[in-house]
Amino acid sequence: MQRKQFIKLTGATSAFTMSGGAAWLLQSCNGQNKNDMPANDIKIIESDFTGALPSPPLMDLAAGEFAATASSAEILKGKKTEVYGYYEGILGKTIVLNKGDKLNLNFKNNLPQPTNVHWHGLIAPPDMDGFPDFLIQPNNSFRYEFTVDQRAGTYWYHPHPHYLTAQQVVKGLAGFFIVTDEEEKALNLPSGENETAFVIQDKRFDAQGNFIYSPTDEELMTGYFADHIIVNGAYNPYKKLNAAWNRMRIINGSTARVYNLAFSNGQEYHVIGSDAGLMAVPETVKNILLSPGERIDLLVDFTSSENKEIFLRSETFTGGGAQGGQTFNIMKFKIGVKSSQPFTLPQKLSSVIKIDPSTATKTRTFDISNAGVEKKMKQENNKSGEMKNRKMNMHTINGQSFEEKTISETVNAGATEIWEFDNSKGDEIHPMHIHGVHFQLLERTGGRNKLTAIEKGWKDTVMLMPGEKLRTIMTFPVFKGKRVVHCHNLEHEESGMMLGFETV
Ligand code: C2O
Ligand code: CU
Ligand code: CU
Repeated sequence: MQRKQFIKLTGATSAFTMSGGAAWLLQSCNGQNKNDMPANDIKIIESDFTGALPSPPLMDLAAGEFAATASSAEILKGKKTEVYGYYEGILGKTIVLNKGDKLNLNFKNNLPQPTNVHWHGLIAPPDMDGFPDFLIQPNNSFRYEFTVDQRAGTYWYHPHPHYLTAQQVVKGLAGFFIVTDEEEKALNLPSGENETAFVIQDKRFDAQGNFIYSPTDEELMTGYFADHIIVNGAYNPYKKLNAAWNRMRIINGSTARVYNLAFSNGQEYHVIGSDAGLMAVPETVKNILLSPGERIDLLVDFTSSENKEIFLRSETFTGGGAQGGQTFNIMKFKIGVKSSQPFTLPQKLSSVIKIDPSTATKTRTFDISNAGVEKKMKQENNKSGEMKNRKMNMHTINGQSFEEKTISETVNAGATEIWEFDNSKGDEIHPMHIHGVHFQLLERTGGRNKLTAIEKGWKDTVMLMPGEKLRTIMTFPVFKGKRVVHCHNLEHEESGMMLGFETV
């Protein structure tokens, strides 16, 4: 069954396959991959930071449509990169809606392969939310229609067709989805020129300037790390900012790389929001780990940095298995003159009401350690001398590998539950993500043994380092239907680290 689906999907993409589309699947299956470098040996190549940061245009919601499109973009100077986007170019237009507004967009698939749209962090009805076996075929359309009834925050959208998610995201499919509400507006946070949004990704390029995406077996285990950092689709860009308080909304849109975000001058910044909107109070930090899928909303005071250059960078960190070995610059801020927008950091941001654990009607535990899975897979492969669903059994949750038709957990709509992710025997980082629900974190045991600044608000994705266990609590929305819980390391997700659950 899995095998058949796999062949069907790769077959459907054959027009595209050998130019790096689904080719990596075949390559890694045949063991003929030439990019056979250990994942932790990938060193970031920094540019001269001379290209300006592009900002994705706003989606014209009144037009009522958007399309996944193949085109090209200049990412490396003088070279053309074949990209996918939700318009002509890389990434997508930014959707901005106010709480209570309706999203009503006809989506057209102009790609040579099936796709769909998942609204990451949105509480959308399940049939509108890109279940992995829900495919929109080339030249077909689907109308996405739902009411946005949730906290203001920095959400995003990206494809979710099983076995094609990672490569489509790598080719460029991802966009911002910003929700606003009255509570947030009343804070008068820095806006206009003093508000930026960016998505950070890492890419490998071939000599022509096209993306390479061809994870080896080892890279399916660790994740696929690349050597060029792009922000909003531009390689190591710069951005001119006012000497003012600046608001930055950041998405980690990489498949596997975790960033330890800090400013090069060592200055503190204030976390005001995480995945699902504002925190109760600002949390002041010098660095924050942001794993794939997670978002941070921060304020940084550049008022006394007139005419300075400051980099946003990723610093080294420990405890992350193959990750964290290098400090590198992500982008440059050229600070100009003082802006006239005065601002004082609010003491209180939002009312975040803690869910009472005694109201939980069920506790579920998810073993995400993947202990012994790699070994088992290697033995199987050696025995049979062929692929034997290699990708599918590489990563598991509770010993199960994702199958489209299998519902692993059944949840009552409206119920409050505790979900515990257990990576205590694991040796990889896993950013765990649940579709269609926001959760709070109760406690982390093992590893870092505490919650970080971005983990004190509402979340939809949370990072577990090797050795860690995390208790989350959530109240499921009233919608009924199928959703998934998965690792947002997209190599892990595609190699099985995802489960279906159903709300009934
Ligand atoms: Cu960002 Cu299953 O998604
Ligand atoms: Cu999601
Ligand atoms: Cu993982």
